[in-house]
Amino acid sequence: MDVFEAIRNRRSIRKYLDLPVEWDKVGSVLEAGRLAPSSGNLQAWKFVVVRDLKKRKALAEAAAQQFWMEQAPVHIVIVGVFNKHQRFFGDRGKDLYVIQDCAMAAMQMMIAATALGLGSCFVSAINEERAGSTILIRGGARPMGILTLGYAAETPKMPLRYRLENISYLEVDAGLAYVHGYTPGRIADFDSSVGNWRFAQRGISYVKQAAEDIDKATKEKRKGLLQKLVEKAKPKEKQKEEKHRK
Ligand SMILES: Cc1cc2nc3c(=O)[nH]c(=O)nc-3n(C[C@H](O)[C@H](O)[C@H](O)COP(=O)(O)O)c2cc1C
Repeated sequence: MDVFEAIRNRRSIRKYLDLPVEWDKVGSVLEAGRLAPSSGNLQAWKFVVVRDLKKRKALAEAAAQQFWMEQAPVHIVIVGVFNKHQRFFGDRGKDLYVIQDCAMAAMQMMIAATALGLGSCFVSAINEERAGSTILIRGGARPMGILTLGYAAETPKMPLRYRLENISYLEVDAGLAYVHGYTPGRIADFDSSVGNWRFAQRGISYVKQAAEDIDKATKEKRKGLLQKLVEKAKPKEKQKEEKHRK
């Protein structure tokens, strides 16, 4: 599968078939995580593979009782190792880079899983202490999230995404985000405006669909119409000139 196809096809899967995942596929997913970029190449992660049902149940319980997770035959707990970053990069390293490292690894694992025909979901709503005690985490390490893995029993549609023009800026600053109501410290406002905006987006997609339908239905009738309109828009002199030349 082409990499962009894997990026596009990846969905968070929350329903799994009762089928084991081949061990070599689990290995390939771990390998994709191992090869991820990391700050200072410190690779501040450990990947704990959990197949035992009792442990999977405990992890689902620790993840705000997201019981759907139990169905996934494999959980990979992504553990952040914090001691090195503090030493190399100070507080920013400890507070941010470790999390970013683990997120990079998780993302690569999900793309690899998709390419291998597997479903996955990154779950970070976890009680760290309870999840940590299930896999016996000790000293200077924290579970950052759990990646569920298995053969998908659902094919969800892609949840709405912002349009590229709403989130990317060419040589101007992202202060344009203020358009959507965001001011630092007023996240709630931002969230509600995103909610409204999503609602509006849904409306827009219906209108777009309707426009496409009309477009298809009137295609035949419109043949040559564009040419006529172009002709009409030309200045009179030019029209005469062209007629004369013919
Ligand atoms: C940092 C992070 C935390 C997430 N935590 C959870 C979670 O606890 N439970 C869950 O069901 N999905 C979780 N997700 C998955 C998101 O809900 C999902 O990515 C989002 O709805 C977009 O859907 P998609 O992944 O299919 O594109 C998490 C995703 C990320 C990136």
